[in-house]
Formats: sequence, C-alpha cells, structure tokens
Amino acid sequence: MHRTHTCGELRSTHIGEEVTLSGWVQRRRDFGAMTFIDLRDRYGITQLSFNEDQDKSLNSEARSLGREFVIKVIGYVIERSNKNLNIPTGEIEIQVTRFEVLNAALTPPFTIEEDTDGGEEIRLKYRYLDLRRTPIQDKLILRSKLNKAVRDYLNEADFIDVETPVLIKSTPEGARDFVVPSRMNEGQYYALPQSPQTFKQLLMVSGFDKYYQIVKCFRDEDFRADRQPEFTQIDCEMSFVERDDILSTFEGMIRSVFKQVKNIELGEIPRLTYEDAIRRFGSDKPDMRFGMELIDMDTVTKGNGFGVFDNADSVVAINVSGGNTYTRKQLDELTDWVKRPQIGAMGLIYCRINEDGSFKSSVDKFFSQEQLAQWSLVCESKPNDLILLLSGQKDKVRKQMNELRLFVGEKEGLRPKTKFKACWIIDFPLVEKDDESNRWHAMHHPFTSPIPSHRELMHTDPGNVKANAYDMAINGMEVGGGSIRIHDKALQKQMFDLLGFTEKEAQEQFGFLMNAFEYGAPPHGGIAFGLDRLTAILAGTDSIRDVIAFPKNNMGRDVMIDAPASLNKDQQKELGL
Ligand code: AMO
Repeated sequence: MHRTHTCGELRSTHIGEEVTLSGWVQRRRDFGAMTFIDLRDRYGITQLSFNEDQDKSLNSEARSLGREFVIKVIGYVIERSNKNLNIPTGEIEIQVTRFEVLNAALTPPFTIEEDTDGGEEIRLKYRYLDLRRTPIQDKLILRSKLNKAVRDYLNEADFIDVETPVLIKSTPEGARDFVVPSRMNEGQYYALPQSPQTFKQLLMVSGFDKYYQIVKCFRDEDFRADRQPEFTQIDCEMSFVERDDILSTFEGMIRSVFKQVKNIELGEIPRLTYEDAIRRFGSDKPDMRFGMELIDMDTVTKGNGFGVFDNADSVVAINVSGGNTYTRKQLDELTDWVKRPQIGAMGLIYCRINEDGSFKSSVDKFFSQEQLAQWSLVCESKPNDLILLLSGQKDKVRKQMNELRLFVGEKEGLRPKTKFKACWIIDFPLVEKDDESNRWHAMHHPFTSPIPSHRELMHTDPGNVKANAYDMAINGMEVGGGSIRIHDKALQKQMFDLLGFTEKEAQEQFGFLMNAFEYGAPPHGGIAFGLDRLTAILAGTDSIRDVIAFPKNNMGRDVMIDAPASLNKDQQKELGL
C-alpha cells in the first residue's frame, strides 16, 4: 500500500496512529540529532521527523533525501512541539520508522514552493514542475470546479452536449485561421475552428433545440494577457428563443457558477446599451466595480482661448474623489502614463479642488476661479477632489479616458480582486466601416441578426443598424458574447451583400448554411463564454495563462515541447508543401 492518508489529512485526532504517506520532499532541515522533511502532495504538506536518538542510521539515510525525491514513509502521528498554525496539518508530525525512495529526482531548476525564484520562461519550460506548486494547482482545481458547475447547470436545464469537428473550413470570427495541410488532398488545407459557430447553428436546424459544448477554439491573433491562440469556450445555442430568454438563461448559469465555485452571490447584472457604455465608461466592457464615470466637459471648457480644448473634437473628464492628495510628481507620472504610445494622449490637464473650495488647475492662465467652479459643478466635485481632463478626437479620447479611469481606479484600490461586478452590453452596431478597405465589417459575425425594427435600415443606413447581439463583461473583461441569429436565407443573403461578398463567394464559403436555412431553420440564438477568462477572474489573476495547464508564451510558442517546429523533408514532401 502506498498510503493510508494524504499529506493534507492528518490532525491531532490522529495522534498515536501508525500511517503510511507518499509524496514529494519539498524541503529538508537538519538540526543536530533531528531531521525534518516537509512531505508534499496535491492535498497539502505534512512534517516528517527523524530522530538520531531513536534510529541513528534512519536519520542519516534521511539526510540523503534531496528536493523532489518521491518517497513513501511509515510512522506514528505525534504531537508537534513547535506547532505551525498556518497549515491544517501543523499540529502534528510523523515520527518516521521506515521509508522507501520510490524515485530520486534531479535538483529542480527553481524552488517548488508557494513562492518561487523561477522566472516565467523557465517555469513554462518545466511547466510540469511549476504545476506542483500550490498556487498553480489551486487555479487548475478551480477551473475543474467551474467546468463542473457549468455542466451541472446546463445538463439540469436540458442542454445536450454535442462535439463538433476540429478539422473544418475557415469560420468567420474575424481572426486569422490556423491551417492544417491535407495529405490526401494535396494543396488543400483544413482550418481549425475559431469557434463552432456554423455547426451549432446547423444543430438547431437539426432540431437539437438546446446545445452546449466546452470546446477548444483556435485563433491566430496577436498576444494579450487575456488571449491565447488556443482557448476554451463554453459554447451554447438555443432554438425558439428571443434575446431576453438567452440573457436570463445565461445570467442564471453565471450566478450558479459563482455560487457553486466561490459561494458568491453575484448581485444585480445591469444591462447597458453599447452607446451608453461608451458614453459613461468609454468602453464596451466597463469595469462597474466603481464609479468615476466619464463626464462631457465641452460646454464648460470651450471658447476660452485655450487651443488644446478649443481645437479638440471633445473634452472629457473624470472626478477622482479625494484625489487632491496627489503630489505634483504623481500628476507628472500620470501625464507621462497617458502620453505613452499605448494610450496616445497629447497631455493631461488637472484641476484640484482645495479644502477651502478654491481651485488650482494646470491651466490657470486660461480659466478663472469662476470658470473652474463651473467645471467642478459639472463634475459634482467635492472639496479635496481632483478633476482629470483629456481632449482630442471623440472616439479616441473616450478610449484614452477609459484607460486612465482603470489606471486611477487601480491606484485608488477600487478594483479589488475579491469583488465581482457583471454587466450585459446590448444593442451593438451591426456593422462597422473599415477605413482602409472602405468596406462594412460585421461587428460580431455575419450570422448576427439586426434588431427586428432595424431591418429596413440595412438598405439605407447600415452604420446605424443595431444588432440583436449581447456581451457579458465582468470586472472590465469581456467574458462572453452572442446574438440572435439570422435564420432566413433572404436576410442572410442581404447581410453577405452588405459585407461585400459576391454571390459566388458567399455560396463557396457558407453555401452549406444558406442551403440548410431552406430546410426549415427555427429562430435561434446563442452565446459563448471564455472559460479561461472566467476562471482567471474567479482566481483573481490578470493572465489567462495562469489558469491553463500548458499555455503558450507571448510568441505563441510552447517552450516545453518546443512547438511550433519545422517538418522534416519527408513529411513536407508527403504533404505537398
Ligand atoms: P466571441 O468571438 O465573442 O464569440 O468569443 C466568445 C468568448 O470567447 C472568449 N475569447 C477568448 N478567450 C481567450 N483567448 C482568445 N483568443 C479569445 N477569443 C475569444 C471571450 C469571448 O467573449 N461564435 C461566437 C459566439 C456566439 O455568437 O455564440 C464567438 O466566438 O471570452
């Protein structure tokens, strides 16, 4: 028998029992006649003790055990003289009577403890060792729980789990495809799915009614902390539903996940139109854990001879409550921060509201105390607040202010990782103009329907058509998105026309779907959530890499298996490359 208990299980109630434990040597400490070892497994750490006075040779054998050796020990549970109340097993230790080395280990390239000295690249190269560390294991265990909670909810609600193919043809989610050459069809390629979008719609035509799949998706996109080239979606589709049916079903799912995984009651989930989200937060995935909303300052800033404002399309502010404590140096740092190319603002203007109600701004030359009082009125500022202003082109300045709001919010401690606030964003534009190609692009994907009353507008004013689409954001991260689909061929054709597909192109790429729509397609809609992102939010980490067992690095490489890699000549020849 390898073990009677795990390394996280024994307590003072077990004192006196003979037990067998197996695990890894995390750390050895030699003290005179005593040797102590921390033995670790997935469940925790238990202290082993060896006493020279009791067994001299056993004690000296123990001193040959190196870090990460796999051992099996037999011994008695005894009370610890030096208790460690920080760990659940800290009141006891095992007085070892026998042990066996199950496998020796090389010295690991970094310490395998809660905190490690290893840099990210080395930890990714030896990911199987990094995965022994408790904080990383905890995140994968959380992911597994989340997975289960999702399945429980959807199975309970009568959804059917259907697998869709991975070797397919290009899907239109807007990123680049990863492609796979076909040996049997020389010169032809499969594409890996960016999502199972078209298949889940076909399943609705087949009558499956409620579908889900926890599924790998592949997108050849530029790297970001919230993106991986291969990631996992909770992909869902329903028939005979309208937007509100979908929103309430999946609001239920998210609530149930938070409750089951973290025992958190997710409060009210507000619905904001896209327009309102941009107006109030400058973002279609606002972090609603805090206020500090964007304020339009045009009426109180323009026409005073200050060119930066007068010549700008738009002037926007945020009011930082209690921000008058910011030193000149801190304000200079904020200014440098908004001027970085990633943000791209020209500069930052501020106005302090002093304790006595007077104002001190960086543009005192142009604005009198009375005018600054107007600013503070519009911003509803109180004494000791700080107003921060940016100006520029309307859309750009809102985006920049969104970044600044998040940055200041973070500094002010308004974005704690233990607080969660979700929202729905609805009524997205259906299409947006790509300035370079001067063509309309689907904002979501080309199967998204316009809201019913806007169908006619598609002919006359496409830019103002609202889509019957919705996203969910939590804590400023987009976690899910979907739409009510087009389910008739004529409207689908009209959409392809608008997007500039010729009849032939549309037929070639999506003929199978348009044909299917002629055989009795039910009204349907759906949504997909990013499982990695949801897990990252619940785990309180900013990078989805932390919640993926074997992630790619920021160049899209798996540094452990060293992929991607070149093919040898024979393989290339066989594939006709
Ligand atoms: P969308 O493209 O919005 O919709 O994707 C759905 C959700 O998937 C997650 N996500 C990602 N997560 C990690 N890395 C990536 N590269 C990545 N890309 C997307 C996000 C996102 O909200 N077929 C539609 C869904 C539908 O209409 O039903 C789709 O894929 O959390």
